[in-house]
Amino acid sequence: MLKNCKLVEFHNFKDDRGNLVAIENPKNLDFPINRIYYIYGVDSDAERGFHSHKILHQVLIVVSGSVKIRISTNNEEETVLLDDPSKGLYIGPMIWREMYDFSKDAVLLVLASEKYDESDYIRDKDEYLKLASEYFSNNDKDIVMHSKNFKMKYVTLGDADFILKLRTNETLGQYISPTDNSLYKQISWLNEYKKREREKKEFYFKTYNDNEDIGFFRLYNIDYNKKELTFGSFIFKENKPKYAAIESIIVAMEIAFKKLQVQKVYLDVRVKNIKAKNFYNRFGFQKINEDDLNEYYELTKDEYDKLYEEKYKEFL
Ligand SMILES: CC(C)(COP(=O)(O)OP(=O)(O)OC[C@H]1O[C@@H](n2cnc3c(N)ncnc32)[C@H](O)[C@@H]1OP(=O)(O)O)[C@@H](O)C(=O)NCCC(=O)NCCS
Repeated sequence: MLKNCKLVEFHNFKDDRGNLVAIENPKNLDFPINRIYYIYGVDSDAERGFHSHKILHQVLIVVSGSVKIRISTNNEEETVLLDDPSKGLYIGPMIWREMYDFSKDAVLLVLASEKYDESDYIRDKDEYLKLASEYFSNNDKDIVMHSKNFKMKYVTLGDADFILKLRTNETLGQYISPTDNSLYKQISWLNEYKKREREKKEFYFKTYNDNEDIGFFRLYNIDYNKKELTFGSFIFKENKPKYAAIESIIVAMEIAFKKLQVQKVYLDVRVKNIKAKNFYNRFGFQKINEDDLNEYYELTKDEYDKLYEEKYKEFL
């Protein structure tokens, strides 16, 4: 399914008296409903929609009849036929939508996260395409740094889908702090993060190459007075290209020690996360503490500078 969209199935309580579909927040709807509206009596040749929202999330449910929804971004398009009242189409921010082929009896119910706000609409397709290409694409002008094989840029709200996929993956996510499988919450979290990024309080990066998005890392708890920060949210897709993790952590250390000019980088890792512990030990991090759940590591600028000269500069 298209980025920022998904099909949601609601429980249908069916017996010989008929059907009852219940939608409960947060069980099967992960955003607060601030507006409900419905569309009906649409001519079969009429088309509606033709806009995108900047932040609004919504779920479309055809409680009667059928309708086709064409959803698209700047480079993807998909058509979804809604003809089952127990299914909904979730559409997140920055998706262009067009509704057509309404059956005579179609009633399209929309549950929306925000009250009506005209300034949240993008109705001009050219403007939408421009904004969507910034939101979803890996524009080279956004590169923060690159290594030998990869590029790194700040994450955008358009990365929410991929971050969520990695963090809720059973294998990859088993030793990281749990993440709700909610695109709405992930996008909202990134929205808040973007504010902290503007204040230079923390930075969240995506590693990618010309073919694919690969993974993420984050620099946070940045203390410009104590000259220290924490490295984390380090996660890469399964079957990633071989040097993605090492080149990314070198870039992270370059940004931390050389651009942000800290003297110390901390990280914590679950005691059971053997793979990651081996990776950090091998990198040169020193263990400084542990408790039942985590081990705590640090790397100083002096140690990093030595390692950089000895072996890491060739990765950049
Ligand atoms: C943690 C994680 C990013 C480590 O990445 P990884 O690619 O598995 O790490 P690897 O040790 O296999 O490194 C891949 C290659 O990079 C190179 N490399 C890694 N560390 C290196 C180092 N210090 N010096 C030189 N080369 C290095 C090696 O070529 C290595 O391959 P090799 O072991 O066959 O020689 C990854 O396992 C992951 O995404 N885990 C899930 C999420 C997670 O738990 N994150 C950590 C939270 S604290």
